[in-house]
Amino acid sequence: MTRDRKSIASEIKELTDKINYHNYRYYVLDSPEVTDAEFDRLFDQLLKLEEQNPDLRLPDSPTQRVGAPPSAKFEQVRHSVPMLSLNKVASDSEFADFIRRVDADLEGDREATEYVTEPKLDGLAVEIVYRNGVLDIASTRGDGFTGEVITDNVRTIRNIPLRLMTDSPPALLEVRGEVVITKSEFAKLNRAREKNEEDVFANPRNAAAGSLRQLDPKVTASRPLVMFAYAIGLVEGKSFATHSETLDYLREVGFTVSEQIRTNTEPAGITGEYNTFLDSRISLPFDVDGMVIKVNSYRQQQKLGELSRSPRWAVAWKFPPEQATTVVENIEVQVGRTGILTPVAHLKPVRVGGVEVKRASLHNEDELKRKDIRIGDTVVVQRAGDVIPEVVEPVSDKRTGDEQQFEMPRKCPVCDSPVSKDPDGVYVRCNNLHCPAQVAERIFHFASKAGVDIDGIGMKLVEQMVNLELIEDAADLYYLTMEKLSRMERMGEKLAENILTSIEQSKNPDLPHLINALGIRNVGEHLASVLAQHFSTLDNFRESTAEELSGIDEVGPIVAESIRSYFDSEETRLFLEKLRDAGMAFPVEESETGPKPLDGQSIVITGTLENYSRSQAKKILEGLGAKVVSSVSKKTNAVLVGANPGSKYNKATELGIRIINENDFVELAGGK
Ligand code: IVH
Repeated sequence: MTRDRKSIASEIKELTDKINYHNYRYYVLDSPEVTDAEFDRLFDQLLKLEEQNPDLRLPDSPTQRVGAPPSAKFEQVRHSVPMLSLNKVASDSEFADFIRRVDADLEGDREATEYVTEPKLDGLAVEIVYRNGVLDIASTRGDGFTGEVITDNVRTIRNIPLRLMTDSPPALLEVRGEVVITKSEFAKLNRAREKNEEDVFANPRNAAAGSLRQLDPKVTASRPLVMFAYAIGLVEGKSFATHSETLDYLREVGFTVSEQIRTNTEPAGITGEYNTFLDSRISLPFDVDGMVIKVNSYRQQQKLGELSRSPRWAVAWKFPPEQATTVVENIEVQVGRTGILTPVAHLKPVRVGGVEVKRASLHNEDELKRKDIRIGDTVVVQRAGDVIPEVVEPVSDKRTGDEQQFEMPRKCPVCDSPVSKDPDGVYVRCNNLHCPAQVAERIFHFASKAGVDIDGIGMKLVEQMVNLELIEDAADLYYLTMEKLSRMERMGEKLAENILTSIEQSKNPDLPHLINALGIRNVGEHLASVLAQHFSTLDNFRESTAEELSGIDEVGPIVAESIRSYFDSEETRLFLEKLRDAGMAFPVEESETGPKPLDGQSIVITGTLENYSRSQAKKILEGLGAKVVSSVSKKTNAVLVGANPGSKYNKATELGIRIINENDFVELAGGK
């Protein structure tokens, strides 16, 4: 007898709801009502019904948490409300400044200001859009304006509801939160990766981010991720008066919201909260890097407003770096891309802030002498966020007299050529451009993500290629063949093919990446994009004079000199020729497109802008088509005026020139 579809549909609905409910009991409330076996039985029952009637499967079916096929790349999506970041404070007095500013801005407000304090979890920010109560689309924060669509991956996170637990869901609700992994799961994950000879994650945040940004949702599903909801974006069909009311609602409809959220009207109470929190941080299951303080009332939040990237109504009070003590077993010297010799402490492995630290940079000879760190010393090491671990100081009480002072070598430890100290006296460098360590670092930098992004080329591989003399510079990568690669250790045919394909695919970088890839001394990622914008083509850049270069806002004489000496060298000429011959595209950087409301206008900036540095403002104005000039004349079209403007302001008003204040400018800049 075939059952009628209506009764099958209602059974599917019943099972879906039941499983989602038990899922919530288990993953959000941590208080299951049924045994695992019972849960599995219900799940299998639903799975079977759905298999027989695929068209009856519901959009919030729990069976869909695991299954989606991998995708080729992430789509992009624009956030309807930008996902801002938080300004930071690092001390009692900076916190007091924040409170003072809020008080000043809300002076005369009819209500006392209430603050909500919550943990600042260290993971990856996501936004999940629910339409009529059903999870529709999820994305990463991205640059705050546009993120990557990761719906299938987010669906695999068990404490995220697939359907809001309410009978009257709002038409639209955008929920924001942090996806994290527990410290213990992080350790477990890394142990497994180590065993499989895979790269380990540097910290729980990277593990969470790496797990979420997986093209294959099955990989995400296998990682124990958790989301904590902390805010909303756009809402339609419901309204909230305060942040804490929003959090209560989010908790009610099925989200995990941190238990450590408090409200306070007194700054002293908030400071107390911070200290309690700081004391408990080690025992918390998740990495917490500070406390967030938010003005509770949305009306007051609105009154306080926002800066370009962060709200004025909230602040993150960061925790100080985590420290531990250990022993310096040895000090070795590493040779970097530009030949700089860096002393590195090899430490007895120690856990700092949930991460095992074995090595820490000692930066340079002066720093090492200043801190007086010796081999055999017991030292304090610290780690702050993503920063490379650092040796803070020796524990002098623990000295036995057997410690050895370290001397920087007079010769490069890799190629044995003599080293010299920079004129400014900080860095010791190996001057041999062909030093294998420098060569390998340069090639690795060229191939890295910040460079032309050759997938799958790691430092080990590059070192081996250099040592076997398969390559002498990065351009040689484009002349590798199957035959050459086959001379390498552990190089199967498949791997070799993949490497050659990745190399081939890297021939069309954009100009900022290509410039950065060159590894010109003193030109980092940021400057590379400034230069790309300015010059549009590599040839323009290459032919620029030192004078022209120094005219660029962010380029000083030292940088101009290192750019010139890079391009003037015969070595560079040959290298670029070799790249071009290999078929490397030398891209043209499109100047920023978009509306040019200030096209051809000449604009003067005077006074201090609160939200922008001079050079940021200049860049934005130029992006809008304006020319930024330094003095006011009859030809000036407008003057952008910040706080405490100079005589230029007076002159402009005398001449009747249009005045743009910072608010007008923020609007013109359109969220830039
Ligand atoms: S609120 C405008 N609350 O910190 C408010 N953010 O620097 C911005 N974060 O990207 C977000 N815990 O990834 C907020 N309780 C919390 C948070 C939190 C962690 C992260 C979030 C955001 C970054 C802001």
